[in-house]
Amino acid sequence: MTKHSFHGWDLAVKLVAWQRQHGRQHLPWQHTQDPYRVWLSEIMLQQTQVTTVIGYYERFLHAFPTVQALANATQDEVMPYWAGLGYYARARNVHRCAQIICTEYGGQFPSQSQTLATLPGIGRSTAAAIAAFCFGERAPIMDGNVKRVFTRFFGVEGHPQQRAVEQQLWALAEQVLAYSPADLNMAHYTQSLMDLGSLICTRRRPTCEACPLKAHCYAFAHGLTEALPTPKVRPSKPERSVQMLIVQTPSHVLLTQRPSEGIWGGLQVPLLFETKGDLEQMLRTHQASTHALEVLQPFWHVFSHFKLHIHPYLLSCNQPWPVEDAQFWLPREAISKAALPAPVKKVFAALALAAQDTRLFNAH
Ligand code: ADE
Repeated sequence: MTKHSFHGWDLAVKLVAWQRQHGRQHLPWQHTQDPYRVWLSEIMLQQTQVTTVIGYYERFLHAFPTVQALANATQDEVMPYWAGLGYYARARNVHRCAQIICTEYGGQFPSQSQTLATLPGIGRSTAAAIAAFCFGERAPIMDGNVKRVFTRFFGVEGHPQQRAVEQQLWALAEQVLAYSPADLNMAHYTQSLMDLGSLICTRRRPTCEACPLKAHCYAFAHGLTEALPTPKVRPSKPERSVQMLIVQTPSHVLLTQRPSEGIWGGLQVPLLFETKGDLEQMLRTHQASTHALEVLQPFWHVFSHFKLHIHPYLLSCNQPWPVEDAQFWLPREAISKAALPAPVKKVFAALALAAQDTRLFNAH
């Protein structure tokens, strides 16, 4: 077996047969060709696991059953349904994309991946997945899972986010399709790649014995499944810290609306300060005693590009005080429906601040 040995025809046919027997058949976004549903699932599944996505997907569709319903909503109405899922630019893009579909495409998703890829939040792989699932287009996908399958199968070295490596992987994916039967079912093939990547060809300890491709897999033959894909040499993430002040009255909690860009863009959070001094200054302005300030357990929250050390504090007052700018007092019973990021949900849950009914907006 040589490196990059080519078994294109075999590969797609074997994968599809394997998927029929061993793949996932009951995910909520399968068995539909409605591009709205497929598009939403694909965006939610970017960087997020299936088990996390399922609940969000169903609640989102319940609130916004059609692309028109989503386009007609305001961003503030949409954000609570994404809160806790992370990567909030996705939610803003989803909303913008729905508006473009309605204003420029008469409410119908375009059927070609090339056109889909011009819309906000839809990259080449997501566009191909939507076009394959909904319209049977013969376009390859290349998401994180598939990169892992291809680097191992073909023995491609170098980190898959490097441009040259990524281009090589796309070229291989195109070749596989070029050598596959003309009647290849693209929806099944696309699903089979996703399933193989997440069920068999996992990042750690892949279950090669059960893999339909093992006879021709370069990494399996050469004992390289641990070494491929080549890991990124990454500098450790920079660290930042923030002081988070939760102000509560018996009936309300003080929140502030984040600007739509930047961390937690468009979400609602307690008051944030760079330093403890800034926080104390704020307390003096409102003549709140620092003695009433409860210091809570600090914790880390990891973002894609940095780690945030969150220092939460709780201040209990009898009366609400006058709010500034983007701040507002939220009634406690509305907390479960607020657009809170996951770490804020975590602190609120620990404080039992939210009303009991957190079914709809549980932190994960
Ligand atoms: N990851 C990305 N898209 C997916 C899909 N349609 N099904 C399962 N996992 C996925």
